[in-house]
Amino acid sequence: MGILTVSDTREKITSKEIREKFLSYFESKDHLRIKNSSIIPKNDPTLLFINAGMAPMKKFFTGEESPEKPRLCNVQTCIRTIDLDDVGDKSHLTSFSMLGSWSIGDYFKEGAIKLAYEFLTKHLNIPNEKLYVTVFAGDKSIGLDVDDECKKWWKEVGILEDHIVECPMEDNFWIAGETGPCGPCTEVFYDTRDDDVNKYVPGGYFDTKTRYIEIWNAGVCMQFNRNLDGTYSPLKFKSIDTGAGLERLTMTLNKMSSVYDTDLLKPICDKINELANGKLSERTVRVLTDHTRTISLILSEKQAPSNEGRGYVPRKLIRRCILLTTKESVKDFDYLSLYNFFIDNYSDIFPLIKENKDFLLSHFEKEYEQFNKVLVSGLEKLDEIKTKGNNISKEDAFDLVTTYGLPFDIIEDYAKDNNFLKKDDESSSF
Ligand code: SER
Repeated sequence: MGILTVSDTREKITSKEIREKFLSYFESKDHLRIKNSSIIPKNDPTLLFINAGMAPMKKFFTGEESPEKPRLCNVQTCIRTIDLDDVGDKSHLTSFSMLGSWSIGDYFKEGAIKLAYEFLTKHLNIPNEKLYVTVFAGDKSIGLDVDDECKKWWKEVGILEDHIVECPMEDNFWIAGETGPCGPCTEVFYDTRDDDVNKYVPGGYFDTKTRYIEIWNAGVCMQFNRNLDGTYSPLKFKSIDTGAGLERLTMTLNKMSSVYDTDLLKPICDKINELANGKLSERTVRVLTDHTRTISLILSEKQAPSNEGRGYVPRKLIRRCILLTTKESVKDFDYLSLYNFFIDNYSDIFPLIKENKDFLLSHFEKEYEQFNKVLVSGLEKLDEIKTKGNNISKEDAFDLVTTYGLPFDIIEDYAKDNNFLKKDDESSSF
């Protein structure tokens, strides 16, 4: 067993300071600071949006293109919608800034682990006892054994033996989409507690829900290309791809209970509370905060809302926001002031929101007007149905979708919220 954990008494640190510390640290280690790429992928049909710092660099890993230098670092804006239903909890977001560093055919596991450990303990001053790491447990299907090399280097730098956790393919193997460069990874977690509650013991359950927070994927050990048929081919050379979510790291380093307490998101939450006179639930405030940022980022790239593909994401997010404020009886929520607040306060990090402000605001307003109209008349019709009896028939639902244009999931939600029963099956809710 390791020694007793040590309380962490570091001072507060802003997201800007973390960002700059990260970039200047990697620059001092001979990494070239490169620009943030557009969130719209170029010539990559496997992705709707850039979902990781490595996504715009796939061709570097496959050797099809060469970077200016073999060591790189940056902060990349990313969009990930796979966790949409979890948004509003303490750490899930649909957009975030990823701190990334890369070795393209240069150092591999030893270099990545030494760099990560030095940065975390000497520059972010995290006590060694607070750090846990995961390593790939091995998988016969790709011919890899447990990653003893990563284990060895983590131990060598100072990570306690019982703070090293073996994790299977579903947790510790990384790929940006269905196909492309990929590999096993080694991740760093921060222990948020000083007691024994849910404390990890080797071979036991590693509680990443309440106790340990992932702060850095400190190395995808890029060594395969996943092909269309699901097979893996070795890459011509091995590389390292690291990524740390800035929001999560800021939350963790400041011992905050959610990413919405960080300087990256709290001002937006506060503005929403001010505009809604405190009438919205905490979860709705968080969802609105997250969605406002993501919608703005997408529209600022001149991607208009539409019914399919990339454009469907802002459409869906805008509708979710309107629904939430309507449901919580803040029907005339001043979205325009919220978007203007976001543009005025965050254009230093996201310059396009200011540059393409007119496109952003006009497309948001158009989308808002259209959906709000549908929603108001659809909800009126639903209220009418409700007064006639506590049920809704398939014909009513069909009429609402086809004539009123109301999305089916809204009808379903309304039915659930109002304990509607189906006319043809009185025993079950709609
Ligand atoms: N691509 C890896 C990730 O997103 C490391 O950056 O976790």
